[in-house]
Amino acid sequence: MSALEAEGLNTFYGKSHILFDVSLKVEEGMITTLLGRNGAGKTTTLRSLVGLTMPRTGSVKIFGEDSSRQPPYRAAKRGVGYVPEGRKIFAHLTVEDNLRVPLERPGPWTIERVFQTFPRLAERRTNKGRQLSGGEQEMLSIARALLLNPKVLILDEPSQGLAPLIVKDVFRMVEQAKADGMSVLLVEQNVRASLEIADYAYVLDHGVMSWSGTAADLVKDEERIQALAGASAEEWSFDDDLSTKEAEAFSHQPSTVA
Ligand SMILES: Nc1ncnc2c1ncn2[C@@H]1O[C@H](COP(=O)(O)OP(=O)(O)OP(=O)(O)O)[C@@H](O)[C@H]1O
Ligand SMILES: [Mg+2]
Repeated sequence: MSALEAEGLNTFYGKSHILFDVSLKVEEGMITTLLGRNGAGKTTTLRSLVGLTMPRTGSVKIFGEDSSRQPPYRAAKRGVGYVPEGRKIFAHLTVEDNLRVPLERPGPWTIERVFQTFPRLAERRTNKGRQLSGGEQEMLSIARALLLNPKVLILDEPSQGLAPLIVKDVFRMVEQAKADGMSVLLVEQNVRASLEIADYAYVLDHGVMSWSGTAADLVKDEERIQALAGASAEEWSFDDDLSTKEAEAFSHQPSTVA
């Protein structure tokens, strides 16, 4: 059984037809990534899955149960956690208080485990949300979702605007969620990084699902990756010395100084 299954979604904003017969499956215990360029309809797909935007036609199943056209709290109740685009954390609350906002549900994730696993957040425990860097804010929003111990974790562009070293930390959280047995749907524009951790991939193009298959197969399709990633199709590797890369990104020195 799939954790999530959407079939034939057609979603509109007013008269604008945005999603055209979009179907996708999130298999249990796997990381599925949904890729696509700006405006392709990735966020709209997620919103359609959880009921934040109602698709006009099509069906959504959560662990085999029909959840079409149900309000968002129903998806949450069935164990779907959603981390929206743009880090919606509480700016005036401390890190610790932000983590206390979702009532902890029994499961592998507790506030203590969050601090143990992500020391960066532990160090910032008493800082206010607004004092955090973009990467720390993203980690905090993911940590908040993990504390609900969801069965399915949906993430909308968690790497957006983050330096490579921080992306690595954020993606480590996603891998940890999978290790805990969660099923993950990861929306990304960082194509290479997400294919490194994903099992399955979908490509959305102007509201149409144009490709689906294993992440391993998509990695080999250089042409498609170039088309998807456009200008940001530079090589990506978690094994590189990322701290050096990051330092270079912030210095004005050329990378090959004699
Ligand atoms: N609330 C809205 N009202 C009208 N049109 C919208 C609305 N939200 C998104 N759109 C349009 O729907 C299309 C898909 O947008 P969506 O946000 O789903 O894309 P996306 O793939 O998530 O893009 P991005 O990578 O920029 O986040 C775009 O053409 C966008 O302009
Ligand atoms: Mg989006």
